[in-house]
Amino acid sequence: MTERPAVQRRMPRWSELKPLLRTRRIELDATKRRLDRALTIADLRAIAKRRTPRAPFDYTDGAAEQEVSLRRARALFRRLQFNPSVLRDVSKVDPSTTILGRPSAYPFALAPTGFTRMMQHEGEPAVVRVAERAGIPYALSTMGTTSIEDVAAAAPNADKWFQLYIWTDRAAGKDLVDRAHAAGYTTLVLTVDVPVAGARLRDVRNGMTIPPSLTPKTILDMGLHPAWWINMLTTKPLSFASLSDWPGTVAELINHMFDPSVTFDDLAWMREIWPGSLVVKGIQNVEDARKVVDLGADGLVISNHGGRQLDRAPIPLQLVPKVADAVGDRAEVYVDTGVMTGADIVAAVALGARAVLVGRAYLYGLMAGGERGVQRAVDILGNEVRRTLQLLGVQNPGELNRSHVTLPEVAF
Ligand SMILES: Cc1cc2nc3c(=O)[nH]c(=O)nc-3n(C[C@H](O)[C@H](O)[C@H](O)COP(=O)(O)O)c2cc1C
Repeated sequence: MTERPAVQRRMPRWSELKPLLRTRRIELDATKRRLDRALTIADLRAIAKRRTPRAPFDYTDGAAEQEVSLRRARALFRRLQFNPSVLRDVSKVDPSTTILGRPSAYPFALAPTGFTRMMQHEGEPAVVRVAERAGIPYALSTMGTTSIEDVAAAAPNADKWFQLYIWTDRAAGKDLVDRAHAAGYTTLVLTVDVPVAGARLRDVRNGMTIPPSLTPKTILDMGLHPAWWINMLTTKPLSFASLSDWPGTVAELINHMFDPSVTFDDLAWMREIWPGSLVVKGIQNVEDARKVVDLGADGLVISNHGGRQLDRAPIPLQLVPKVADAVGDRAEVYVDTGVMTGADIVAAVALGARAVLVGRAYLYGLMAGGERGVQRAVDILGNEVRRTLQLLGVQNPGELNRSHVTLPEVAF
């Protein structure tokens, strides 16, 4: 056995140690400290879970029945393969695009989500302000907790979309559409995948009501999430901005207000009364995509509502190439459900989507830190989009094509 030479040791000099010392300024702002540590949307979700009572967190995080639709959608994003090209000049990258003819800083928009003020008291105004600063569209939900006009006033220069469910009372729906037009919303998003409410079992188990009821369980929860409860109880009472208040559960409200007899004729009617861009959200097959475009939709969202409606529904991402082929350049194709990273967004665009809608990703940010948390979520996604474009060897979303992504033969 050969003998190893002994390691020669010496005392380090102070002049050598000094440059290695890193003193970090202690961040006194607790929200900033928390958000700075979040590097991914999953990190924001973990913070959101700690800071939010169970019922509103589960309302946001959960999906329908056994939550298979959502799990499969997220799994497909993780399982796809990217195919990069090398030795391309990516020193300058421009992630911007146009959506419905208007500029967007990134190929994603913030999806409509109901009851946003329940998740965190800053609610819709915080989200639309971030959209305005970032230069991406924001869609306000019919089930919003801030009025059409107040959202418009919070961010006059944002590209604002209004999401509509067709109600049994058609005149009331038309009134909302007129108000959205008068307030400068550019786009109407007609959601068509809620003929009846999906079975969100976590909400039933948690006894979720809007506003949250004061029961022994929720009162106990106040000790665990005091900041959330103080904010909730000391800001404007939580109510729907576009619907009259409802004493029961969300599912009961949906089943009472929304009309399960809606058909393509109602879409034709909407096309007549809405002068702006019209997007149909909740498309899940090629035939329906063709039909809504024939009826004048300017865009459609392939979506299963974030897995909150039909469980075991088609995975939206998987439909993108087929729908994009069927629709061609007659309308723009968007996709949502399961997006947790900027790379997911890039993959969807490569497969043929013009843009992606993100829902939970920004809500996790909102619950983690209000407006600053939403900003953090958008920054995380934006940086990931930018970096993924560069690593794929392209300078902008327009250079992406299907060869950049391989979907697995078997999706799950
Ligand atoms: C808490 C929550 C509330 C939602 N409310 C609405 C709504 O009022 N109208 C609507 O069209 N879609 C609604 N959605 C669906 C989103 O617009 C979007 O389709 C979905 O969140 C996309 O999936 P993702 O959350 O995985 O990004 C909601 C989603 C969540 C998570």
